[in-house]
Amino acid sequence: MSLRIETFAHGRAAPLIPALSRLRMAVFRDWPYLYQGTAAEEEEYLAPFIQGPSAALVVAFDGAEPVGCATCMALPEALDEVIAPFLAMGLDPSAYFYFGESVLLPQYRGRGAGVAFFTAREAHALAASSCSYATFCAVRRPEDHPLKPPGAGTLHAFWRHRGYAPVPGLACTMAWTQVGSEVEVANTLDFWRRKIR
Ligand SMILES: CC(C)(COP(=O)(O)OP(=O)(O)OC[C@H]1O[C@@H](n2cnc3c(N)ncnc32)[C@H](O)[C@@H]1OP(=O)(O)O)[C@@H](O)C(=O)NCCC(=O)NCCS
Repeated sequence: MSLRIETFAHGRAAPLIPALSRLRMAVFRDWPYLYQGTAAEEEEYLAPFIQGPSAALVVAFDGAEPVGCATCMALPEALDEVIAPFLAMGLDPSAYFYFGESVLLPQYRGRGAGVAFFTAREAHALAASSCSYATFCAVRRPEDHPLKPPGAGTLHAFWRHRGYAPVPGLACTMAWTQVGSEVEVANTLDFWRRKIR
């Protein structure tokens, strides 16, 4: 079964918000994100990736059904908590294009959609900005985390194969209601980057 990959910018993805919210909630509920979101939180989170001047949403479709998506925007348009660690390290936010996330339903993985999400977002970053780097952050989880499923791996090799490397010391904090907890938990996310021009 082949997936169709399409990039949406300038608000064109607005009708997809409910489907993309459901996708994010389903995928991020699993290890390692353990995110227990609501439709209202999702809508608020996705809005800047749909309406932002530099933003784009890349969607994987099986027929008419969205089964995965990836987000991006110029870093200066991102949330303050994402920009703050760059400023603290003396890095210029305007040199970075920020990739929010990639999510794909488990049954569609391993067929190239994740690679296509990176290719499409890098192409958008080059077309929509003069940024030198693409960057994203990934949640940091200890090896002995009580909710880690046996044998769970990481995406580190997948990201390295795409040309990304962690930036030592560059991390942000984001809080979300975690599976198994009624309150928001602060999580540390480490930044990776790749030079794109
Ligand atoms: C991240 C995620 C979207 C990757 O999706 P994916 O579709 O499995 O990734 P791909 O199939 O493109 O790539 C996986 C591997 O299969 C290979 N592959 C298999 N078929 C392929 C094809 N037809 N074309 C290109 N690559 C292919 C890729 O090269 C890659 O291997 P490599 O790293 O050794 O090069 C998916 O794992 C996911 O949703 N994870 C949960 C959410 C998450 O943690 N997101 C990341 C943080 S936000």
